[in-house]
Amino acid sequence: MEKFVIQGGAPLSATIPVSGSKNSALPALAACLLTAEPVTLHRIPPVRDIGTMIDLIRYSGAEVHVEGERVTITAASIDKPEAPYEVVKTMRASSLVLGPLVARTGCARVSMPGGCAIGARPINLHVTALQHLGAEIRQDHGYIEAVAPNGLRGGTVHFDRITVTGTEDILMAAVLARGETIIENAAREPEVVDLAHLLTRMGAKIEGAGTSTIRVQGVDKLGGAEHTIIADRIEAGTFLIAGAITRGDVAVTGCVPEHLRALIAKLQQAGVEVTETAPDTLRVRVPGSLRNTDMTTEEHPGFATDLQAQFMALMTQAEGISFITEKIFENRFMHVQELARMGANIRLEGRQAIVAGSTRLTGAQVIASDLRASASLVLAALAADGETEIDRVYHIDRGYDRIEAKLNAAGANIRRVAH
Ligand code: EPZ
Repeated sequence: MEKFVIQGGAPLSATIPVSGSKNSALPALAACLLTAEPVTLHRIPPVRDIGTMIDLIRYSGAEVHVEGERVTITAASIDKPEAPYEVVKTMRASSLVLGPLVARTGCARVSMPGGCAIGARPINLHVTALQHLGAEIRQDHGYIEAVAPNGLRGGTVHFDRITVTGTEDILMAAVLARGETIIENAAREPEVVDLAHLLTRMGAKIEGAGTSTIRVQGVDKLGGAEHTIIADRIEAGTFLIAGAITRGDVAVTGCVPEHLRALIAKLQQAGVEVTETAPDTLRVRVPGSLRNTDMTTEEHPGFATDLQAQFMALMTQAEGISFITEKIFENRFMHVQELARMGANIRLEGRQAIVAGSTRLTGAQVIASDLRASASLVLAALAADGETEIDRVYHIDRGYDRIEAKLNAAGANIRRVAH
């Protein structure tokens, strides 16, 4: 087990490079199962969840060659179209292989994901959508078995609620289904658009990715391709907030400002100066005091739930009361009690956190619970007086590539300690 030991108080000042998006790389890796030809992906972030997905793809029988941030996958033959419990229990996004495996081999056996720290997170919507494309589904012994002996057929899929990986799963199934598929109430996240770009390069026929309705003309087979993953907008947003909470002068480069409009608007509302100094670079400074700012998480292009905990840490430093409402997950406030141990004044009322600022944060021993909650504890520790210990930092390693190296290069004082 490892922990971070963080000495707070130093304003960060640097240009921090952003890595490729974990949440775009995961479906892109799964998409490689759709063809027997080699697919090469660039800018794959070397984070724990990516390693898990690569293990899963190797388990199915595909060949994976990793060279730094370049990954080449050749799924010439898939002899085990499965996602076993041991893997799925560590990463819910394993369900992203469900669609590709059924589409490519006509069958898939995927363990149901357990719950996780932020909510029940079922995959019922993925399953229902696959049934609309002709898959027969059986659920037993904790597994979902999907079979389509005569292949999938196009159809209309309407999602009861917007689901990012649900949209991605069914998009990957539809590209090899016979005929046309229409996906209604689709997720509009940039990661969905990036996946559609990769699939199109592989020969898929897709229109409307990034809107609520995606139209797919199925093709008989897909070919190989090369593709570079988009920047990680959540990592970029996390570093922008790190610059603001430490009253520093931080530029984040290699990002896509267009993907961060909701965060930028909220930061500016809170009194943070955000400027686009280059097409791929955003810079933050805090000229005066931070102002309380209400925020509600929404599906993209609304405020990303994956930045809620980080924004909440910032609001503990803003004058006044901030109402933060989490509309995507039912239990995404695990960071609140830990922030309170550092001096934050936050009251929970159902889906709403009421943050009373600004409060002086002091270093304390805290525990990471999920990926983004852990990131918010790092941000609070950077702003706190004294020393903070964050235990179970493996949660952070799931989605951040060398976070302490990037922040220390900006003037932070973070030590990773085994214990
Ligand atoms: C993706 O998760 C992201 N993960 C999450 O990022 C992100 O928080 C989430 O989208 C929302 O933006 C990846 O892309 C790998 P959903 P996903 O399906 O697809 C409910 C991170 O920190 N739902 O859009 O699993 C679900 O419980 C991670 O990088 C069903 O009820 O999220 C949730 O309340 C955390 N049934 C809501 O929909 C389903 O079949 C949205 O979930 C599917 C989802």
